[in-house]
Amino acid sequence: MTGPTYAARPLGGERYTSRAFMDAEWDNVWTASWLIAIRADEIPEPGDFRTEEIGRESILIVRQEEGGIRAFYNVCQHRGNKLVTAVEGSMPSFTCPYHSWRFELDGQCSYAQDPEDFPGGDPCRHASLVELACDQFAGFVWINMDPDCIPLHEFLGPIREAWSAYPLEAMTRVQAISVHMPCNWKLLLDNFHETYHLPTAHPEGIEYAEDGYRETHIELYENGHALGQTKCCLPSHRLPATKDRLTAPIAADLARWDLDPETFRGRESDARKAVQQQKRALHAERGLHHYARLNDDQLTDVFHYTLFPNFATSLNADGMLFLRALPHPTDPEQCLFDCWYYNFGDMSSHKSLVTLDGETAKDHVPREYVRYGDKSLGVVLDGDAWVMAGQQQAMHSRGYRGAILAHQERRITQYHAMIDRYIAGFRPRPAGWNAA
Ligand code: FES
Ligand SMILES: [Fe+2]
Repeated sequence: MTGPTYAARPLGGERYTSRAFMDAEWDNVWTASWLIAIRADEIPEPGDFRTEEIGRESILIVRQEEGGIRAFYNVCQHRGNKLVTAVEGSMPSFTCPYHSWRFELDGQCSYAQDPEDFPGGDPCRHASLVELACDQFAGFVWINMDPDCIPLHEFLGPIREAWSAYPLEAMTRVQAISVHMPCNWKLLLDNFHETYHLPTAHPEGIEYAEDGYRETHIELYENGHALGQTKCCLPSHRLPATKDRLTAPIAADLARWDLDPETFRGRESDARKAVQQQKRALHAERGLHHYARLNDDQLTDVFHYTLFPNFATSLNADGMLFLRALPHPTDPEQCLFDCWYYNFGDMSSHKSLVTLDGETAKDHVPREYVRYGDKSLGVVLDGDAWVMAGQQQAMHSRGYRGAILAHQERRITQYHAMIDRYIAGFRPRPAGWNAA
C-alpha cells in the first residue's frame, strides 16, 4: 500500500494550549470529520436513543420506525433548550421540558402549544430538528456535522477492507472507562501514532512484542488514517542477552495452544509461527470461528489503526481496544479519553447489564467517568496517560522548541499535517462534488 508522504515540520506547543487553535480545530476539523459515535446495537428498537456530547455540541441519535438510524442536534427549535437530557432511553417522541414542543423520531415538530399565536404560522408546519450526516460501519454509528461531507465509506478508504476480516459487527463492550484528562486531545493521538515509546514507557512489552521500527509495518492512508502492525508472540531484539528468550508471556501463549514451551528453547523466534498454525488448527473446536477469516499475522499480531481525527484502535485476534479522544467544550488543556475494550466472543456468554436508568437491559457495560489518576486503566494505558498529563505542562514552556520526530514517528507528522490542511480549508470530497 502506498500512501501520501509528508515532510517533517516543527510542532510547537501552542497547538496544544491555544484557545484560538482550539477554535480553528473546532470549526475545521471536529465539525468537518466523520466521528465514531455509538454502537448501533445500543439502540435496537424504534424510539431507542442516545445522546452524545462532542465538545460543545450535544448529538441525539435515534432508531427510526423503519429501522434506520438518524442523528440530530439536540436543540429544541423553539428557543434552543436542550431537548433531551437523558444519556439514553426509549421514547415514542421527544417533548421539550421548557414549553412542551414535541418532535417525532424523524425530527419533525408535531406539537406546539398555542400554534395559532405564531405570526409565522403553526410551527409544526415548518419546524424540525436539524439533522446531521449519519452512517454505520463495523457496528458503530458515525456522525458528521459537515452537510457536504464525503460518504463514510470513501472517507475510510482502505480501512473498510482492512477491517473486514474481524467480527466487528458483533462485539461486546467489556470495559468502558472514560477519563477526564488534563491535556490536549492531540497528545493522546500523538502517543497512539507511534511505537517509539514502547520500550521505555511499557518495558514489560519487550518480552512479548518485537517493537523495533524495522520490524513494525507502517502504512499511511489517504484522509489521515494510518496503520502500525506490531509482531507479537516474538521477543524483542531489545531483550537483554542475559534474559531467557523463552519469556513467560510467550511460554504461556504456547501452553494455551497445547504446544510445549520447552521444545522452543533455542528457537524462540519460531513460537509466533507455531502459534499461528496451532490457532488455525484448533480454533473451530475452541469455538473461535472468526479465526477462519483472519490471516496468519492477524492471528498473533496487534494491528494498530489510527482514524483521523480522534480515534485509535488496537485490533487483535480476540478483541478491539477502543481509544477515542473527545475535546473539552472550551478548554484546550482538557479532554475526555475513552478507554474501552470490545470482546469478539459470543455476546450471549456475557451477562446483560442494567443501564443507568435501571430499566433497560443492554449487552454493553455502562460507561464509567473518572478523573485522571482516580482509577487504573491497566499497566500499559496507565503509562500512556501519565506521559500525556506530564507533556501538557511542557507545551507551555519556553524551554520547548517543538517536536523532533524520527522517521518511525511519521504517522504523527501526517496527522498534524492533515489538521493544518483542514484548518487551511481542505475537505475530502466525493468524486464529482461541485462547490456551488
Ligand atoms: S425551548 Fe423547547 S419548547 Fe420552548
Ligand atoms: Fe503506549
